[in-house]
Amino acid sequence: MIELSGVSFSYGSPADGPVVLSGIDFALAPGECVAVLGANGSGKSTLVRLCDGLLTPDEGSVLVDGVDTRDGERVWDVRSRVALVMQNPDNQIVGTSVEEDCAFGPENLGLPRDEIRRRVDEALAAVGLAGMERREPHLLSEGQKQRLAIAGALAMRPAYVLLDEPTAMLDPDGRAAVLAAVDGLRATGHGVLHVTHQVADAATADRVLVLAEGGTAYLGTPEGLLGDPDRLARCGLELPPAGVLASELRARGFAVPITAMDAASIVETLCR
Ligand SMILES: Nc1ncnc2c1ncn2[C@@H]1O[C@H](COP(=O)(O)OP(=O)(O)OP(=O)(O)O)[C@@H](O)[C@H]1O
Ligand SMILES: [Mg+2]
Repeated sequence: MIELSGVSFSYGSPADGPVVLSGIDFALAPGECVAVLGANGSGKSTLVRLCDGLLTPDEGSVLVDGVDTRDGERVWDVRSRVALVMQNPDNQIVGTSVEEDCAFGPENLGLPRDEIRRRVDEALAAVGLAGMERREPHLLSEGQKQRLAIAGALAMRPAYVLLDEPTAMLDPDGRAAVLAAVDGLRATGHGVLHVTHQVADAATADRVLVLAEGGTAYLGTPEGLLGDPDRLARCGLELPPAGVLASELRARGFAVPITAMDAASIVETLCR
């Protein structure tokens, strides 16, 4: 469990810097996917950095499987349990081949060669990149690069994977493939924190956290947010056009589920 209790944080000195997050209570369990939404500058990336110990709170505490991220002697216990995938795939590539890139983390752990091989094979298969081991990473599509970044994270065998807008720079195909890989993370028992600007991404999460003005504007089920236009508006969020259509259809008595967030899935549910 990653547990934030009464967390406050500012980048300046706590006394005079603007408070970015204040009084945040939140927990991420293994096997759970929480989508994090909020306007630009609402503190989503800051929350991510607090969860993996890159930043530590001014007030309150962050515990990763019981270890306080402020405990300087146990930094490695935290880092080894939490993996981070960022927005820009190009900034995360370190190897000259797909397999070398994926092996970078495990090699730094000093693991035996056969264990590294096993981890790399498993991680690449998990994100659909098996067979591409010898490719040069810079020749991959942006979506493939981002899946390689997820594979690199997986090869470290983390308990939690934090993704900070992993699809922001991708085309629709790349986005769909990365979202499938994110779903795969949850299916394999990882706790997943998925920061996104796309309200539709929240539909399939277990829970949704919305940050606004330094605090929690919403923490609950996707249905409780996406099915409540007033609440969405209060959180400063908007449904995508297909989501608006789905919500209009629901209001007229059609059984369109909250997860139907694109035209194809709406048509599919209506034609069933
Ligand atoms: N390194 C930093 N030093 C000072 N202030 C920062 C730093 N990083 C972020 N901030 C400020 O903290 C606030 C929250 O930033 P953060 O990056 O966490 O927001 P975000 O929700 O991730 O935004 P975005 O949607 O643009 O990614 C913003 O006001 C930002 O300007
Ligand atoms: Mg951010």
